[in-house]
Amino acid sequence: MISVAIDGPSGAGKSSLAKRLAADLGYVYVDTGAMYRSIGLYATRQGADLHNAEAVAALLPQIQLEIRLLDGTQHIYLNGEDVSEAIRAEEIGMAASAVSAHPPVRAFLLDTQRSLAANQNVLMDGRDIGTVVLPNATVKIYLTASAQARAERRCKELQQKGQPADFATVLADIEQRDYQDTHREVAPLKQAEDAILVDTSDIDFDESFALLKRTILEHI
Ligand code: DC
Repeated sequence: MISVAIDGPSGAGKSSLAKRLAADLGYVYVDTGAMYRSIGLYATRQGADLHNAEAVAALLPQIQLEIRLLDGTQHIYLNGEDVSEAIRAEEIGMAASAVSAHPPVRAFLLDTQRSLAANQNVLMDGRDIGTVVLPNATVKIYLTASAQARAERRCKELQQKGQPADFATVLADIEQRDYQDTHREVAPLKQAEDAILVDTSDIDFDESFALLKRTILEHI
C-alpha cells in the first residue's frame, strides 16, 4: 500500500492541497485534524475544561467517530451526527489543538488512523503522521509557510465567506496554535527526519499543487 504523509502547521494549505492531490492520484484522503476537531467539538458542547486531560479523557468512552465518503468527500460523524461543517469553526480549531495535547486523546485516535492506511492507498494529513502515525509512510512531506502568509490566506478565505477577519487576531491565533502544537509533550508537530520540506510562502495554490504532485510521483 502507498501512504503519503503530509504534516505541517495550521493554515499551510494542507487539507485543500491534500484533497486535490488525493483525487488526482486516486488515493483516499484522510483528514486527521477532523478527528481531533470532532473531539474538540464534543468536549466544548459538554462544557469540559479543554486543558484538563482527565476531564477530556473521561468523555472519550462517550464518543463514537465514523468517517464516510460521500461523493468522494470525507464526512465525519460524531455519535451519528454529520459534524463536517460544525468542526470548521475557528474556536473548534483551537479546541482541537487543546484536546490534542492529551495523551489519551491521541491514543484513542491512533489505531483508527493506522487502520485506515492498512488496506488502501492513502494521503493522510495532520501534525504527527510522518513522525508517529505512519513512520514508514512511502513519502513524507512537511508543508509549511510563514505565519504572515498563512494569516493573509486565512483572512482572504474568511472574507470570501462573508465572515469578519481582523488580520492581527488571525495572525495571533495562528501563532498560538503553532505554539501549542509544537510544544506539547506527546507527538508535537515537527518535521520528520526523512520528510521533504515544502514551503509555500511565495507560491500560489496551483504552483504548490504541481510541486507536491511532482515530489510525490518522484518518490513512489
Ligand atoms: O489540521 P487542523 O487545523 O484541522 O487540526 C486541528 C488541530 O488538531 C491542530 O491544531 C492540532 C490537532 N491535530 C493533531 O494534534 N494531530 C493531527 N494529526 C492532526 C491535528
